[in-house]
Amino acid sequence: MQKIAVFTSGGDAPGMNACIRAVVRTAIYYNIEIMGIMRGYDGMIQNELIPLDSRSVANIIQRGGTILKSARSDEFRTYEGRKKAFESLKSNGVEGIICIGGNGTYTGANVFYNEFGIPSIGVPGTIDNDLYGTDFTIGYDTALNTATEAIDKIRDTADSHNRVFLVEVMGRDSGFIALAVGIAGGAEAVLIPEDQKDELKLFEMFSKRKESKKSFSIIVVAEGEEGGASTIAIKLKQQFPELDIRTTILGHIQRGGSPTARDRILSTRLGVSAVERLLAGGKNECVGMVNNKIHYTSFKEAVDNKKPLPDYILSLIEILSS
Ligand code: F6P
Repeated sequence: MQKIAVFTSGGDAPGMNACIRAVVRTAIYYNIEIMGIMRGYDGMIQNELIPLDSRSVANIIQRGGTILKSARSDEFRTYEGRKKAFESLKSNGVEGIICIGGNGTYTGANVFYNEFGIPSIGVPGTIDNDLYGTDFTIGYDTALNTATEAIDKIRDTADSHNRVFLVEVMGRDSGFIALAVGIAGGAEAVLIPEDQKDELKLFEMFSKRKESKKSFSIIVVAEGEEGGASTIAIKLKQQFPELDIRTTILGHIQRGGSPTARDRILSTRLGVSAVERLLAGGKNECVGMVNNKIHYTSFKEAVDNKKPLPDYILSLIEILSS
């Protein structure tokens, strides 16, 4: 293999730049030419490839976002779009690709490999941490820290005004962020899409609130919970009109900012391993970190399976919320 390309796709995540840096410098270390594809699959279709060298990734390890930009591509979902993408890679002499992104990125990469046979290695880049085949994804740790810091601030007002705060965190289909932030932020309850009974439990908890003598509450709600925090707030107010309830949706502040040291190290290890795997003949798989060791999973297995939530985590919240 003489030339490879790297791109970021889907929602940006802090640490993507650190990963791009690792990929570029590893390729150069092994005397391989490396190109960057701008704007994910859309840029691949539009032939937006640029040569990268060591200096082009200088001073980015600490930066959030992605210097290669990102997009969610509708055109790549079509065969015609993927064919254009293949032709643009061929015209640039690209023989292998590294894609940094989430579930949608992996799904696209799997289909693309099966149709056109360009070897590709995925790197898990999403704040949601919902990818099978890795314990942690790039950006998750930074997002947790950002959300926890925000909750610490909200807690001051909740305490001063004896209020109930429903704080909505990201996580389209999963409760990984919500559960971890719930623990780190000392939440009384966490509502996640994976738990069908959590709303009922919340109402039960509030009906016993007088006994617990609590004056304020922080409830973390995952974005993927039905209706989100705003709907839960309305239902809670209907049932308990005496409560002074406020809702805060943290939103995209969780996606930005400088990556934590933990995310930078994870991104670097995954980036280096992705290139080494590609050069060693890896074709249609993603790299991950399992029990602090590099681990490879086929794209198919990664997209066909749902990563389970660690079961100890829900019981922790129950124990600590009394
Ligand atoms: O997948 C990452 C994520 O931040 C989800 O948690 C969220 O639902 C989604 O992306 C938001 O995407 P967008 O920025 O395209 O609105």
